Amino acid sequence: MNSKKIVVVGATGHLGVKIVQALLDQGADVTAMVRATSNKSKLEAMGVKHFALGDMMNKESLKEALNPREGFDAIVASAAGYTAHSKGDSPATDTIGYKNLVDATKAAGIPRFVLLSILECDKAVNVPHFHNKYLTETYLQEKKQPYIALRSGAFFDWNDNFMLKRISKGVVPVFFTKAGYGTIYTPDLARYLAMAAVSLPDSELNSYVDVGWSKPVNSESLIAAFSKVLDKPFRAKLIVSGLVFGILCFFAMFIPKLKDMVAMVRWVNTGVYVSKDTARQQKLFGDLPTTEEAVRRYCKDHHLIK
Ligand SMILES: NC(=O)c1ccc[n+]([C@@H]2O[C@H](COP(=O)([O-])OP(=O)(O)OC[C@H]3O[C@@H](n4cnc5c(N)ncnc54)[C@H](OP(=O)(O)O)[C@@H]3O)[C@@H](O)[C@H]2O)c1
Repeated sequence: MNSKKIVVVGATGHLGVKIVQALLDQGADVTAMVRATSNKSKLEAMGVKHFALGDMMNKESLKEALNPREGFDAIVASAAGYTAHSKGDSPATDTIGYKNLVDATKAAGIPRFVLLSILECDKAVNVPHFHNKYLTETYLQEKKQPYIALRSGAFFDWNDNFMLKRISKGVVPVFFTKAGYGTIYTPDLARYLAMAAVSLPDSELNSYVDVGWSKPVNSESLIAAFSKVLDKPFRAKLIVSGLVFGILCFFAMFIPKLKDMVAMVRWVNTGVYVSKDTARQQKLFGDLPTTEEAVRRYCKDHHLIK
């Protein structure tokens, strides 16, 4: 049984609860950092006993949440402001908030910072919510805070209800059309992040790892996998049609968040959003999921097949 003490920032999020579960599965002693307004009910139902109050936009609260007397072995951070998980959240969390978190981690002497980052974020200069991950990677280096960044592709199961509704109607919802892109099933990503916190040797620190499936996906490969696994015909449907995208491009001139999203779609469609080094993922976390195997697991987990 591993009894490493790990603190998770963003623990109430879509991915965060899965990271907490993966850490519990791997025997870690988990503390969830939450805000005063966070809804802890899912975490409590999962058996989480330790909570620390901390807000990335409030330095004093981080000092207390990450107090050295806690003796944390690692911090795992998947929080985000641009996703607007709670009212009032802003992208400042992804820049100022992350700097505050790195500073507090360094001051507390926590020996490992596991950052959830994004594939090719160093090249995504025009996509702020991607590039901000690179800025945090750079800040970790600058502060000499030992870290590892897992650079993930798009979450395959980014919105379970939305996706399940469409899959049951024989439709694969897709965001990107023009090129293959990296993707990942979040329970796998959570397991890798937990491994990075509890069992990865120190020799792997101070670097990033691309994480995703064995090959980039596109609408054809997703249709083929769902058709095979569920034994029925599928078709792909764009989540945002060409016409709506055109309208969004116009409004993006005035709304920064929309501008960020439009830039992301354009950038991903250039084909750059793929893992460049799958060998390192295999070495650290085991064989990469194939599209069909991951789709089969998704369907099983969501009771679409036995
Ligand atoms: N979606 C994708 O395809 C994709 C791909 C690659 C990487 N990512 C990254 O994945 C990460 C997790 O995404 P997600 O979908 O799990 O996000 P999410 O569900 O929106 O959760 C955001 C989390 O951040 C916390 N948070 C926000 N502001 C905070 C602050 N000031 N202080 C402390 N905690 C704060 C929220 O806490 P409250 O409960 O208090 O609101 C919540 O736990 C993000 O960093 C995102 O950039 C996403």
